[in-house]
Amino acid sequence: MDVFRIQGGARLVGEVHVTGAKNSSLKLMAVALLAPGKTVIHAVPNILDVTIMAELLRRLGCSVTYSAETETVEIEVPETIEHRADYDLVRRMRASIAVLGPLVARTGAADVALPGGDAIGSRGLDMHTAGLERMGATVANEHGYLVVHAPDGGLIGTHVYLDFPSVGATETLLMAAVTANGVTVIDNAAREPEISDICNMLLAMGAQIDGVGTSLLTVTGVSSLRPVEHTTVSDRIVAGTWAVAAAITGGDITVRNANNEHLSIVLEKLITAGAEVEILSDGFRIQMNRRPTAVDVVTLPYPGFPTDLQPQFIALNSIAEGSAMVTENLFEARFRFVQELSRLGAEVRTDGHHALIRGRSQLSGAPVEATDIRAGAGLVLAGLVAEGETTVHAVEHIDRGYVGFEEQLSALGAIIVREPSPQIF
Ligand code: UD1
Repeated sequence: MDVFRIQGGARLVGEVHVTGAKNSSLKLMAVALLAPGKTVIHAVPNILDVTIMAELLRRLGCSVTYSAETETVEIEVPETIEHRADYDLVRRMRASIAVLGPLVARTGAADVALPGGDAIGSRGLDMHTAGLERMGATVANEHGYLVVHAPDGGLIGTHVYLDFPSVGATETLLMAAVTANGVTVIDNAAREPEISDICNMLLAMGAQIDGVGTSLLTVTGVSSLRPVEHTTVSDRIVAGTWAVAAAITGGDITVRNANNEHLSIVLEKLITAGAEVEILSDGFRIQMNRRPTAVDVVTLPYPGFPTDLQPQFIALNSIAEGSAMVTENLFEARFRFVQELSRLGAEVRTDGHHALIRGRSQLSGAPVEATDIRAGAGLVLAGLVAEGETTVHAVEHIDRGYVGFEEQLSALGAIIVREPSPQIF
């Protein structure tokens, strides 16, 4: 376990290049299972979760190679695959659940361990399983595993209405539906750009999907899919984190390979906070020349404000002029990080889904602990502006979402180093 040791006060200036989205890459790797043969996926970030997903696919019978240099993963999928995802891998990465849909589609069965993952709320799987049941599958919870069986002859197309536009449930049902018998309609589907990315890869593989990018996906089952070469959509959460890094440090950062359309609401909020944003053909440049003004944020499914940028915006508000209300509608436990931020002197009161932040002119460096990926990013951003030294513990969480975060921050002028966690005993 490592820590980041940060000396606050540096203004971040320079250019960064955003890689492919973690939340897309992992699912695209699972999509590969749907077609025997060789799938090639580009812009796959060099993070632990990709290593875990690669191992999971290997255990299902695939051969997988990843090149960190080219950020490319090659997956050779055999004609016959296994259908069990073991607890030792699934517990380390909740996104392992992405194999559920493809396994049922390809083999007619899946034994997938119930996931653990980030400590950010209950994150049930009820919509995944209810949708599969609607498609004719039987689902049981046996010894910590979800045990799913498709009917003889395969899953059957149907109309599924999601109670909530869950990203994971939309993905599971989409991947299950592409080779099901007949037409599956996924109503109230999630519209995140990562879902459209999966749809685009599936379309290239020969799937029939109408309504890509909308909340009504109509999938007509096809008998088989072919492997393809695909490039992952840019990571809007990483791009958004760089944007906040510029705003919080009074910096000037050019963010390349970002899709501005996916960040409209985020950039708009930062403009309200006082930033100047210049739109470029391959991203944006963001400058902040004064103390930020506090901005209210309400997290919602896309195209609403992303929950994965909520901690970073609480960090920004903690040093802003004025007060702001941040409302979290997706993950109830995401405010756990506020306790850590308070150690830096931030004034935040939470009540249920709401956090009220009173901006202070200065935070004060202290040791803090990352509780999940985005909380970790929020704490690093706060540490960049806190007076004196901040040590962020449990940075393995941050490593799961940001490739070489401290190196990139250093290149922009931050004073940050990675060190092994001090041993007490
Ligand atoms: C994905 C992202 C995560 C992001 C989230 C929302 C990945 C690996 N993770 O998570 O970074 O924060 O989308 O944009 O892509 N829920 C249920 N029952 C279900 C499914 C979900 O109750 O069957 C609830 C969850 O507990 C949670 C909410 O719905 O409160 C949102 O979950 P979901 O949209 O499914 O997010 P994930 O796919 O887990």
